Amino acid sequence: MTNPSERATGTLPSVDTTIVHDARLDAVADREFPRVRRGDVAYLNNASTGPLPESSLRALAEFDALRAEPWTISFERQFGTAVRSRELIARLIGASPSEIALMTNTSYGLNLAARMLPLSPGDVVLTSDREFPSNVYPWMAVERTRGVRFQTIPCDGRLLDEGAVLAALDQPGVRVLVLSWVSFETGYAIDLERIGQACAARGIYFVVDAIQGVGALTLDLSQLHVDILACGCQKWLVSPWGTAFVYVRQALISALEPSDVGWMSVRDSDDFTRMLDYDFTYRDDARRFEVVTLPFQEFAAVNVALDLWFEVGPARIAARVAEHVDRLVRWAEGRGDVQLVSSPALVRRSGIVTVLPPDAGRVSASLDAAGVVHSVREGAIRLSPHWFTAAGARRARVARARRRVPTARDDGA
Ligand SMILES: Cc1ncc(COP(=O)(O)O)c(C=O)c1O
Repeated sequence: MTNPSERATGTLPSVDTTIVHDARLDAVADREFPRVRRGDVAYLNNASTGPLPESSLRALAEFDALRAEPWTISFERQFGTAVRSRELIARLIGASPSEIALMTNTSYGLNLAARMLPLSPGDVVLTSDREFPSNVYPWMAVERTRGVRFQTIPCDGRLLDEGAVLAALDQPGVRVLVLSWVSFETGYAIDLERIGQACAARGIYFVVDAIQGVGALTLDLSQLHVDILACGCQKWLVSPWGTAFVYVRQALISALEPSDVGWMSVRDSDDFTRMLDYDFTYRDDARRFEVVTLPFQEFAAVNVALDLWFEVGPARIAARVAEHVDRLVRWAEGRGDVQLVSSPALVRRSGIVTVLPPDAGRVSASLDAAGVVHSVREGAIRLSPHWFTAAGARRARVARARRRVPTARDDGA
């Protein structure tokens, strides 16, 4: 991978590559992401939108073709796709399929949490003061409608102050802590284990927005105390827009009344021969929170992407992401004119590295011109490689990039 600013300015020395040669991983990356890897651009914007693998394109085309002949789509093909998505997602995050509800975006899962958790007027909901808006507005809404108190904890600069978060849990009345696993702005990965334990010990619900973590880092919810976790699949899980899931801890499922009720939220609703035998008994699993109908063709692509994850290995993927991130961190640390905004600490890293040059606007324009696809977030440059990001000799062909990049930036959050 070419050093981004080097490519932008053409004046800086290269950084030694530490990317471990892995022929099998590279072969899978070449097979599935040839458009990313052919080097028209250096795509460092997976925190906005992940590219679709070639196998997913084929799966989408195949499913869409069947939709032109709906009579060819069996019940098993349609609903079995969703069953498999729940299974694969559960396997990826260390959950049970019964704890997974499929959604069309992260925000709906977070809204579910805000509207379903048993909160009373005066109860306190905490988050940080630099959270992504999807973790803020749903709680502001319940503050307005239900009289809960929504409070933010100041960050330490741009990074979460975990000590301050833990201390804040001891305030009277705290009922919910909502945080991103990985910050959209800095890539700071919170200590899910420590915070989850602290919440559990105090009877505080822990709600996590995991969209910037799942797919780049490994996760085993069976070892953690998280109550509700919402995640879109369009970024680090390289899946179509309109695919997401929410995890609800098993013990909590039956205690939560869905805030929106789908016609398949109730038990026995898979039997389409008895639609009018109304039985308003919710399912025991997280499907009670799904408001059907789902975009089945898009979830077919999620399944392909997750098969790919297991083909490569989630730990191997995370290791490759970490290698890319390490190069960027060391590059930023080695320069006097760029401030590393992200935490350099290994345990805080994710797939996002944010840097602050003196004139971010000018540097962003140079990166655009050099074909380095990135984002600008809160005035800083956000770089987000993924496991299939090409390293070493695969350099962007800048001239072609000049023609293509301007529309490619900032198309997602
Ligand atoms: C932390 C975080 N949460 C949520 C989202 C997106 O939410 P949704 O899937 O509802 O669009 C993003 C990025 O777009 C994000 O960075």
